[in-house]
Amino acid sequence: MKYSSITLLTGGLLAATTGLAADTSPAATAPGFWDDPVNHPLMPLYALSFFAAIVAILVVVVCFSLLRVLNVLINLTAKERAEKQGITYVPPSSFWQRVVQKANASVPLAREQDIDLGHDFDGIRELDNHLPPWWKWLFAGTVVWALAYLVAYHLYGNLPLQQEEYDREVAIADEQMRARKAAQPVEEIDVNTLKYTADAAALEKGKGVFANNNCGSCHRADGGGNTIGPNLTDAYWLHGGGVQNIFNTIKAGVVEKGMPAWGKTLSPQDVRDVTFYVMSLQGSNPANGKAPQGEIFQETQATTDSTAAAPQASL
Ligand code: HEC
Repeated sequence: MKYSSITLLTGGLLAATTGLAADTSPAATAPGFWDDPVNHPLMPLYALSFFAAIVAILVVVVCFSLLRVLNVLINLTAKERAEKQGITYVPPSSFWQRVVQKANASVPLAREQDIDLGHDFDGIRELDNHLPPWWKWLFAGTVVWALAYLVAYHLYGNLPLQQEEYDREVAIADEQMRARKAAQPVEEIDVNTLKYTADAAALEKGKGVFANNNCGSCHRADGGGNTIGPNLTDAYWLHGGGVQNIFNTIKAGVVEKGMPAWGKTLSPQDVRDVTFYVMSLQGSNPANGKAPQGEIFQETQATTDSTAAAPQASL
């Protein structure tokens, strides 16, 4: 009694909530629930339904415990009565035991000889057990499921297959990426007209990029080079020095030699700033720097005609 009135109450509240939510939804300006749950106008209603649901669950639990106690009492009196009449009392099997027996339909131990196939291997006997009903129903269920799946996904195609679902999600992600890029356009950097400036702010940013992307793991924290990457502080370059070459090397990487293509993960501004930072390390001559590799680079050539000659010279 108590329980049903509570469920009615919860059901009513939930209906009221959804009804109210439907009423308010046309106002597009209303803030979403998760924007500010505490001050949301429907919060008291939600909280009330939540507590009503908790109370309902508690009532159900209490009812079940009471039923169990009742069951024990009934069994006790039945046992007493049987003893008075001199009959041996066999307690009735519980609901759960009956479910398990129905699902397995196993032959009781006492009647095992009925299904004995007569094959005995070192005391291990072979019994002619059938497949348990739960297994057969599961199998039938998969057949029904497969048919429904075939019809819904392949014959009528009104539900999306994995490939379609994937394509759809990729399209949504592409759209989001386009929107994000449109919202904050990235200024492309023309490497051919780029000039090195020892601008303190840019160098500071470049230092941050160098540190945050672990350039130091292959070039050492001070750029002196280690077993993986070359020394970035000397005048010798594998791929040419000067702002254009260094920018291009950092952007495109030398993937087959283990230098990642940073243009894929860093913004053009970050590549420029870290290029300036690497250039600022020139001649810093850190202790135990790696021996020079590559060709000595004539900076004069690049600075006198920085727009045209340098990039083509070594690319
Ligand atoms: C996983 C290791 C690794 C990381 C991380 C790495 N590099 Fe390199 N880098 C290399 C290797 C190896 C080379 C030499 C490529 C070659 O032998 O051609 C190189 C070459 C270079 C060169 C050209 C040197 C020359 O002599 O021409 C520059 C400039 C450079 N790296 C800058 C950077 C910067 C800036 C970062 C961080 C954003 C970075 N590297 C991160 C491995 C790495």
